[in-house]
Amino acid sequence: MESPFRADVLIGKVALLTGGGSGIGFEISAQFGKHGASIAIMGRRKNVLDDAVLVLQSLGIPAIGLVGDVRKQEDAQRVVEATVKHFGKLDILVNAAAGNFLVSAEDLSPNGFKTVMDIDSVGTFTMCHEALKYLKKGGPGRCSEHGGFILNISATLHYTAAWYQLHVSAAKAAIDALTRNLALEWGTDYDIRVNGIAPGPIGDTTGMSKLVPPEMNSKARDYMPLYKVGEKWDIAMAAVYLASDAGKYINGTTMPVDGGLWLSKPRHLSKDAVKQLSRTVEKRSRATPAGLPTSKL
Ligand code: HXC
Repeated sequence: MESPFRADVLIGKVALLTGGGSGIGFEISAQFGKHGASIAIMGRRKNVLDDAVLVLQSLGIPAIGLVGDVRKQEDAQRVVEATVKHFGKLDILVNAAAGNFLVSAEDLSPNGFKTVMDIDSVGTFTMCHEALKYLKKGGPGRCSEHGGFILNISATLHYTAAWYQLHVSAAKAAIDALTRNLALEWGTDYDIRVNGIAPGPIGDTTGMSKLVPPEMNSKARDYMPLYKVGEKWDIAMAAVYLASDAGKYINGTTMPVDGGLWLSKPRHLSKDAVKQLSRTVEKRSRATPAGLPTSKL
């Protein structure tokens, strides 16, 4: 789909994206690049990064791939520094790397819990921490007034609770706390905006294939307000909006991009059944005012 944004809204920006070689992370990389940014993508698998960089470069986007694991502080530091060495500065950090699997709380080992916390929450903080000196106003390659931008990819699972996703719910809740606290401290001290996006079910992603059985997709109409799963494009457009000057006063928020799914519950009664039931109850209560036993009427 065509972007509704001007092609130069991110012109001259340098963005580093963890998990930028595949899925939602790759789509954000490509859209940031199409809107003028130079792109560094970080991931664990060199072959995935190589393929992704080739695609970005074929679109005319300046792009490099940097192998690293967000769980290792030395990797985070090396990748941030390699990005700045290559492109001269860093304007945008996107934390999109994540780990996930379905498992009941009973069967989740402490190491399984820790693994997802380490990738999602600790990894996000480590990347932010390593990037700080380049993102702060007055940092290398920056003017003394304007800081950079951090985008954390979250989820909506923890707004309520989610079956077999205790570890991910805990990890994403921590990410949302990071987003708010860093927005407060680094926004005040360094003019760095920090925001998040909480994607709902997004088609053609690892998350979808790991978490949602195919038969659930066809039932989307029964429980989703907008009746459809999202596209990676939807997340990337929200990211372009937040990263661009259009988002210059948005700080510390995590935007759900889920078609309203987190608000919804399965509909147990049809609209017609509600009308029927509601009218019947009203007629009955007019005949028998609440609080009065029928024997007294
Ligand atoms: C139970 C499991 C498990 C499973 C791993 N573990 N898979 N437990 N069920 N299916 C446990 C292991 O037994 C081990 O604990 C611990 O987790 C670490 O496992 P490793 O395989 O050694 O870890 P590692 O090789 O580092 O792999 C990390 C991973 C893997 C998270 C397990 O799936 C991964 O790398 N994923 C990255 C890609 C990914 O998942 N993307 C999805 C993003 S979707 P023990 O106790 O045995 O030592 C997403 C959407 C979120 O984020 C929002 C949804 C709405």
